[in-house]
Amino acid sequence: MATDALQKTTLRVEQLGVSSQAGVDALFSELRSAADAEAAQIRGPESLEAFRVKWLGRRDGISSRISENWLKPAPPVMKKFVGAGLNQLRTALEASVESAKNSVADIETGPPIDLSLPGIERPVGTSHLIRQTYEELERIFLAIGFSVVEGPEMETPYYNFEALNIPEHHPARDNMDTFYIEGSGGHLLRTHTSPMQIRTMEKEPPPVRIIVPGKVYRRDNPDATHGFIFHQLEGLAVDYDITFCDFRGVVDYFVRALLGPKVKTRLRPSYFPFTEPSAEVDVSCHVCGGSGCRTCKFSGWIELFGSGMVNPAVYGFVGYDPKRLSGFAFGMGVDRLAMLRYGITDLQAFFQNDVRFLRQFP
Ligand code: PHE
Repeated sequence: MATDALQKTTLRVEQLGVSSQAGVDALFSELRSAADAEAAQIRGPESLEAFRVKWLGRRDGISSRISENWLKPAPPVMKKFVGAGLNQLRTALEASVESAKNSVADIETGPPIDLSLPGIERPVGTSHLIRQTYEELERIFLAIGFSVVEGPEMETPYYNFEALNIPEHHPARDNMDTFYIEGSGGHLLRTHTSPMQIRTMEKEPPPVRIIVPGKVYRRDNPDATHGFIFHQLEGLAVDYDITFCDFRGVVDYFVRALLGPKVKTRLRPSYFPFTEPSAEVDVSCHVCGGSGCRTCKFSGWIELFGSGMVNPAVYGFVGYDPKRLSGFAFGMGVDRLAMLRYGITDLQAFFQNDVRFLRQFP
């Protein structure tokens, strides 16, 4: 078959017993089939070159052999048919080589790039609502001279409790439902960002004005308002002349910057071992304006964060002089703040990363 057809090119047309146009056409169509079958097997630059040399090579290519063996010695009547057949074969072979060249290039470099086509649009993500809220909080405090510091999520009981005036067996340790890390020699996951108060004052001489964004952990069962992980923003300002009025002023400034000029604030007595006096900061309900609704549980007020004047006992742990220094601290739940702000009813939405939720806060 294929080999037969090729062998025939070593003989002359008369030797093959061909004496008509039909006979010549039959010879060429046999060769065409053989060439097409081989061209279909071309897989790379080497097999392409081998194909080209075999069929179109100057010295011993099949088309040259046809020219030598069939065309030149052919009787004048046959020359026309052989010449036409050879021309057609050459054209077909050259076309095969060209198209194989393209597909070989495709294999090597991929399809040709059409630079005029529009690009593939990749969806662009946005920062998470918690991140966005942090950025806004940071902007508000940076504007009045606070700077941002961050600290470890794995803490020692000393920083998380002891130095914050929460001694062992103090009931405040229980209601913080701490995760202790097994085999860590007593380390724990911080239950609040307050340990960074201690770490900062230990390192820096006064005055101190910091905010601390970060994740905190508590052994809570996850539900619409609780999670075992959530986000806080801590604040601490300590200097030689800070008064309760400064504290009150910063609270007012912050609440107005965050929620608008119409919102009212109120301080409610509270208790934290590391602040004295301690206060919960409430704001007038942004939904009903204070007249009472479901969001504020019909009280007109919403609890925003815990705070107070730094307990002088804390200064003792960091080598600050409690007689000359004073300051205030606060700690707020960022998830809670974002929920209030955007009317989100399920805390878990922040952690599930459902794009249908995330997309609503571009
Ligand atoms: N650390 C407290 C908490 O997590 C909040 C707080 C911080 C209160 C600073 C007062 C001062 O509940």
